[in-house]
Amino acid sequence: QNLPGKTAFVTGGASGIGLGIAKALLGAGMNVTIADIRQDHLDSAVEELAGGERVLAVKLDVTNREQFATVADAVEAKFGKIHILVNNAGVAVVGPTELATFADWDWVMGVNVGGTINGIVTMLPRILAHGEGGHIVCTASMSALVPVGMTTIYSSGKAAVTSMMECMRPELEPRGVICSAFCPGAVQSNIADAAKTRPADLADTGYAEADKRRASGGNFMHLYQTKEQVGERVLEGILNDELYILTHSEFLTGVEERGLATTAAVQTHLPENPEYKQTFAMLFR
Ligand code: NAI
Repeated sequence: QNLPGKTAFVTGGASGIGLGIAKALLGAGMNVTIADIRQDHLDSAVEELAGGERVLAVKLDVTNREQFATVADAVEAKFGKIHILVNNAGVAVVGPTELATFADWDWVMGVNVGGTINGIVTMLPRILAHGEGGHIVCTASMSALVPVGMTTIYSSGKAAVTSMMECMRPELEPRGVICSAFCPGAVQSNIADAAKTRPADLADTGYAEADKRRASGGNFMHLYQTKEQVGERVLEGILNDELYILTHSEFLTGVEERGLATTAAVQTHLPENPEYKQTFAMLFR
């Protein structure tokens, strides 16, 4: 689509990947709203973006549905319409599954999956209503596609948002809204600080010891892609209408192996029933 003059809304847009995406979309001539739970991130991001009137920074906790609607109203009041929604805000816990508390599950799923659901329910009707077309990008992760140990909560949530984009794509494409799952490998960001925004009622974690061990285990940030690199990759994916926006060729073998393993697992020794196949295709058209 033709981006200049249109409006993007990026959750978690004040740091890391979200800020990289905001930068790229601003560079493509869009108005950009960055929505983030952290005021300090918003303040420094506004300075870094230096986009003047084309940038709106709003405080938003993506798990708060009322706040989401209020913020969407404010964006429409300033820019008129919202064309691109980037559901990017995310947090993480890492460690053995058996140590996870309910609060670990609820916090990560609440932000990463619940926040994405809130974005879709709040914004999709608004995007469809103006009829100018649009794009929804969800920041998932390479770990949604390639099994990575110790990330059960995080990766299963990322698989859920990837699946949302896969399901919504054929449904919405005929109506002018393209859906994309952005699945990056590691990117330089502040996600290691995510616990600072963890709500008090979900503070009970099974990973305190694992976090301490990891914090003293070295810093590999120099090996990661930059927010600018992935921001440009997302822009390219939007311009090319890509369903899967992937990065990091280091994961190519893993992605291939998953495809081959699922293909090999299909029960092919029973004959295909053409009537069932046709009915299935009609039902879900
Ligand atoms: P980051 O911590 O630098 O940026 C995330 C932003 O989201 C922060 O500004 C934070 O304040 C905000 N945020 C957190 N909870 C929020 C909430 N409830 N409501 C609104 N804003 C909230 O982290 P990063 O790495 O840039 O993360 C962005 C997305 O990318 C996440 O969904 C993450 O899971 C995903 N991702 C990150 C990778 C990495 O290596 N950094 C790799 C793959 C995916």
